[in-house]
Amino acid sequence: MKYLSVILSVLLLACVLCACTSGSNEKAAQNTSEETAEQETYETNENTQSSGGKILVAYFSATGNTKAVAEKTAEAANADLFEIVPSLPYTEADLNYGDDNSRTTAEQNDDSARPEISGTVENMEEYDTVFIGYPIWWGQAPKIMYTFLEGYDLNGKTIIPFCTSGSSPIGSSAENMQSLTTGASWLEGQRFSAGASSEEVSDWVNSLGLK
Ligand SMILES: Cc1cc2nc3c(=O)[nH]c(=O)nc-3n(C[C@H](O)[C@H](O)[C@H](O)COP(=O)(O)O)c2cc1C
Repeated sequence: MKYLSVILSVLLLACVLCACTSGSNEKAAQNTSEETAEQETYETNENTQSSGGKILVAYFSATGNTKAVAEKTAEAANADLFEIVPSLPYTEADLNYGDDNSRTTAEQNDDSARPEISGTVENMEEYDTVFIGYPIWWGQAPKIMYTFLEGYDLNGKTIIPFCTSGSSPIGSSAENMQSLTTGASWLEGQRFSAGASSEEVSDWVNSLGLK
């Protein structure tokens, strides 16, 4: 009888010890998986964070006027330059706004037109601020600008539109593009004439108060 109670006590102690060990193993496993999750979150944040203050000037120019203003803008803002090049270049006939059947007239009248772009901005996540430059076509931005804006995640970026035109103001062209992006802050746009001077462009860039 005495032996039996000793054996039972030993067995009971063994069960208690076993339960404690398995509980602490579970806790250790749980801690490890929490630490891994924390580490992953940290790494994800690190990878998605915008890495600081870089500026891009992205522009489309069919006949060179916007290109000249874009280059002056990039110089004044100490920014990188990216030309939005159509996969199918615009010919003189395409640009004939006197022709109701020209390519540009057709594209501008088609809400779903998204002319294809040749090339991409590989490191868009590095830019905090993106200037976008374009000519005014029928009072609006060319549809290739819509292709560009829809092609990137611009969430959290500051976007600054500018355009060149014969005489039209920037009008509703920037607002209509704004609705294509989510989470970006759009600054007021600026219109330039074809022969805008470096001083005119740099005065505008300096007035924006960019770092
Ligand atoms: C198809 C087409 C439509 C245009 N529509 C307008 C317009 O509505 N208002 C305007 O002032 N200029 C208009 N223009 C003139 C251009 O906006 C102007 O020449 C601009 O500076 C061209 O820029 P780029 O040389 O960078 O292509 C139009 C030009 C083209 C080719």
